[in-house]
Amino acid sequence: MRNIAVLTSGGDAPGMNAAIRAVVRMGISKGFDVFSVRKGFRGLINGDFEKMDEASVSDIIQRGGTILQTARSEEFKTEEGQSKAANMAKIFDIDGLVVIGGDGSFTGAKKLSEKGVACIGVPATIDNDLAYTDYSIGFGTAVNNVLDAINKIRDTSSSHERASIIEVMGRNSGNIALYAGLAGGAEGIIVPEIKFEMDDICKLLIERRNKGKLHSIIILAEGVGDAKELEKKIMENVDIEVRSTILGYTQRGGNTTAFDRILASRLGAKAVELLADGKSARAVGIRDNKLIDIEIGEALSMKKEFPLELYELAAKLQ
Ligand code: ADP
Ligand code: F6P
Repeated sequence: MRNIAVLTSGGDAPGMNAAIRAVVRMGISKGFDVFSVRKGFRGLINGDFEKMDEASVSDIIQRGGTILQTARSEEFKTEEGQSKAANMAKIFDIDGLVVIGGDGSFTGAKKLSEKGVACIGVPATIDNDLAYTDYSIGFGTAVNNVLDAINKIRDTSSSHERASIIEVMGRNSGNIALYAGLAGGAEGIIVPEIKFEMDDICKLLIERRNKGKLHSIIILAEGVGDAKELEKKIMENVDIEVRSTILGYTQRGGNTTAFDRILASRLGAKAVELLADGKSARAVGIRDNKLIDIEIGEALSMKKEFPLELYELAAKLQ
């Protein structure tokens, strides 16, 4: 193997840049020529390659987003698109590819591996919904971004004696809501993995008001439903003012935390080591603070366990 390439795909996640940096620098140190692919699998189909050197990845370790940009490519989901992409990799003599992204990107990487392009998947998604790894790149930063918002919203919420619903991202996963809720001392955490009762939320808010508490923060995962609707329903049931905030894309940007920078550096470097060892169709990850790699199809077939222990702890500490 002589030439390797790196791309980012799917939703951007803070730490993708740190992972790109690690792939490029580790790749060069192993004697590879390293190429970047712009705009994910779409760029691969279009042959959007650029040779990288150490300086190409200077001053990016701290930055959110992805310098390579990302894309959601419908064409690549087709067999024809995948063949075009594999063919383009062959034309440019790309022997190995590091795919940084979430489960959709991993599915793409698996298909490309089956077409003879050695691929390694690096997990990067704020949703933290890949089961085989304890954490994916970007999740920790997103949680910290939510914490910033909780602090700010708490100030105004207390001043008006209001309850605040904060809707967070995560697609079908409640991980961001759970971790931010526990770390931010939220009064309620509503996630898709656990059935919630409207009556319980109303009771909680009234009990807190009766204790003289000035505010309540409820973290709602987007996978459960709409914050505005919940706000309306609560106010129909209890005489407490409720305001909701949808954090949206603020969660995905900004300065990358030390945790994500280190995770991304370790996983990016590990992906290159696997390519150097002639491996393909593997996903790298972290379990119990140890780096692991498993077959990418197996990684995709696993079901994420919800950390019930943390959810119950948060409920006890409310
Ligand atoms: P993520 O990687 O964050 O889960 P997406 O689900 O949008 O994000 O997937 C990113 C890209 O991966 C898609 O735009 C598509 O090009 C590719 N992809 C997703 N699902 C498949 C699939 N079933 N087969 C081939 N490629 C796929
Ligand atoms: O997968 C990451 C994520 O930010 C989800 O939490 C969210 O539901 C989705 O992407 C938003 O997707 P888009 O960037 O296409 O609006």
